[in-house]
Amino acid sequence: MENTYYPFINLPLPYDYDALEPFIDTKTMHLHHDKHLQTYIDNLNALLKNYPNLQKLSLQQLIQTANTLPTDIQQPLRNNAGGVFNHRFYFDLLANPSEDVPTGPLAAKIIQTFGSFELFKAAFTKAALSVFGSGYAWLVLDNNRLSIITTANQNTPFELCMYPILTIDVWEHAYYLKHYNLRKNYIENWFKVVNWTQAKKNYLAAAT
Ligand SMILES: [Fe+2]
Repeated sequence: MENTYYPFINLPLPYDYDALEPFIDTKTMHLHHDKHLQTYIDNLNALLKNYPNLQKLSLQQLIQTANTLPTDIQQPLRNNAGGVFNHRFYFDLLANPSEDVPTGPLAAKIIQTFGSFELFKAAFTKAALSVFGSGYAWLVLDNNRLSIITTANQNTPFELCMYPILTIDVWEHAYYLKHYNLRKNYIENWFKVVNWTQAKKNYLAAAT
């Protein structure tokens, strides 16, 4: 992930806005990246403007130290640093529909942990459906074990000392324009555009 220090900029998507069609639509990608992520970036920069010491911390360090900071900055920092990290992480994990399943060491670990890729998919879908309100479902590495968790709002696995490998944004803004209230359809379509090469990279980075 580039641009991990203040001032934060909205990096372009690593693919065209229409690259995920017909599974995730162009209009949603424009709004999600150009409006929602941009707002988190603007708010995070505005927040950090008056805190020179915090400007020296990376995005991940900001998230990891948020709960040690004064209460007036703690929650806005968690919301906005988390909002920037989570969206970049989510967007980087999408790609033109090309790969159906993970390969290599991540595939082996998924099968070892969940029994099969299909069982993993069912468990991940169930977790993503279980998020009440806004949040994310994650595949994480927790003490070298794969685990599926959910987080509310813009919370991240770092606050739980876990390392993210894969995530789906299940805030309504991620799917409402195309899928309306049918989150399950969105999850099924999202699985068709997962960038498993990036997930494998995330797994290898977390496992070291
Ligand atoms: Fe989002």
